[in-house]
Amino acid sequence: MTILAFHSPKGGAGNTLVTAAIARRAATRGRTVTAFDMTRQNSLKLFFGLLPNQSMSNADGEPMVVRGVRLEGNFTSSREREAAIDRLRTTPPHDLAVVDIASADWEGRERINRFADLSICVIEPNPIGLASLTRLGEETPVTERDDIAIVLNKLDDRRKLSRHCHRFMKELFANQFVGTVRRDESANEAIARFETLVEYAPNSVIISDIDALLDAIELRLGRSASRSDRQTGRTIPTAEHQSA
Ligand SMILES: Nc1ncnc2c1ncn2[C@@H]1O[C@H](COP(=O)(O)OP(=O)(O)O)[C@@H](O)[C@H]1O
Ligand SMILES: [Mg+2]
Repeated sequence: MTILAFHSPKGGAGNTLVTAAIARRAATRGRTVTAFDMTRQNSLKLFFGLLPNQSMSNADGEPMVVRGVRLEGNFTSSREREAAIDRLRTTPPHDLAVVDIASADWEGRERINRFADLSICVIEPNPIGLASLTRLGEETPVTERDDIAIVLNKLDDRRKLSRHCHRFMKELFANQFVGTVRRDESANEAIARFETLVEYAPNSVIISDIDALLDAIELRLGRSASRSDRQTGRTIPTAEHQSA
């Protein structure tokens, strides 16, 4: 089982978009994927082409599978939320679970990160994005943490400040950086049409960037698996070994 916990210290950075897109891409690659929306906003489903008032459960109350991804969310009581965290923690072997955690939900972030395989922070390459990262490094600076992976989202390579912030943040967080997703307005156009990006704009740069990001996440997971394996004295092939 693999659990990817997505959290951004700054709302609006694209945490939900990246969570949804990684889930869908992993499903396309043949993984069995469940996406958990732990936010109150409940907007993950919009990135799967569902309507704002559309339920994520079928007539039997079971989570629906939409575009190959099992969707869990709309947890209105703390009891439902706790039950969801239990299901997440007991994700079946070989399955992938991705979790969208609200930026204000620091408690949920801490709890889920205790058992997640990777904590992924989605941030915009701009001064406010950079400033918001200080919140993550209260005890140990972010640059020294190997439990956090950073995704730079909404890069606008036509804008000088965006390009420069991107280059600076990529260098500063060289050990945490896992990928960049470029800005593309088709993301919003797709939602306005209640369509998914893959159907509405199959050639969007976001789709190819997410593909590369998923490769990097898998590589990173392979590396930490082989690291913990060295500690136990066993060896398993990592993605790097397989491609070598
Ligand atoms: N790479 C991108 N290009 C263009 N728009 C984006 C991109 N990523 C996210 N967005 C848009 O930015 C807004 C905030 O994204 P969202 O995923 O809801 O952020 P968060 O979950 O971090 O609050 C949404 O309207 C979304 O469509
Ligand atoms: Mg969100």
